[in-house]
Amino acid sequence: MATRNILISPSILAADFARLGEEVRAIDQAGCDWVHVDVMDGHFVPNITIGPAVVKAIRPQTRKVLDVHLMIAPADPFIAAFAEAGSDVITVHAEAGPHLDRSLELIRSLGKKAGVSLTPQTPETAIAYVLDRLDLILVMTVNPGFGGQAFIPAMLDKIARVRSMIGRRPIELEVDGGVTADTAPACARAGASVLVAGSAVFKDAKYAENIAAIRSAAQAAAA
Ligand code: DX5
Ligand code: ZN
Repeated sequence: MATRNILISPSILAADFARLGEEVRAIDQAGCDWVHVDVMDGHFVPNITIGPAVVKAIRPQTRKVLDVHLMIAPADPFIAAFAEAGSDVITVHAEAGPHLDRSLELIRSLGKKAGVSLTPQTPETAIAYVLDRLDLILVMTVNPGFGGQAFIPAMLDKIARVRSMIGRRPIELEVDGGVTADTAPACARAGASVLVAGSAVFKDAKYAENIAAIRSAAQAAAA
């Protein structure tokens, strides 16, 4: 079997918001694969970040995939606005509403890739019957709401279970929270294909080195 190619999606939550356009161009030039946008509503998670207007503003700054992680409830009333703003992948939380299947169908009906995210306590069985509506599964390895938290090792087992549920389907398996060059290898070994990293990319001015360090640590461990 060919080695899985690991994609790196830096989270702009850890960027300097006063220079956001410049920061997005910098991670693009530093070799990121995707750009991860954390949307929080102060209701589903205990923090508030950005909305569709900011996604629209950063869209012209990069041609890379805008990977939009909605930590909002309800999500459905805002999906069209995030699609119009230029998102490529729109991910909703399985815990954010009673009709996940409908949310996923809505995202795809707008021509976007559909993702679902699982918070740490949610078992992978929550998505067993929506697999054919999915382009991406995001396993949270911290409790959503803040950057800079410690990776929860118990999630490695969930990543491995999700990888086996995916089987041969063309679904990306993304891991988000506490990903560094130290935790990335275990994620890749468990089956991750996309790694989100906020603090580990933006911790100092060496974005290219930081992205490369996470990528090479993960790639060496990938199956
Ligand atoms: C947490 C967000 C993450 C976060 C990752 O709710 O979904 O994307 O920004 O940040 P780090 O990499 O610092 O854990
Ligand atoms: Zn995220």
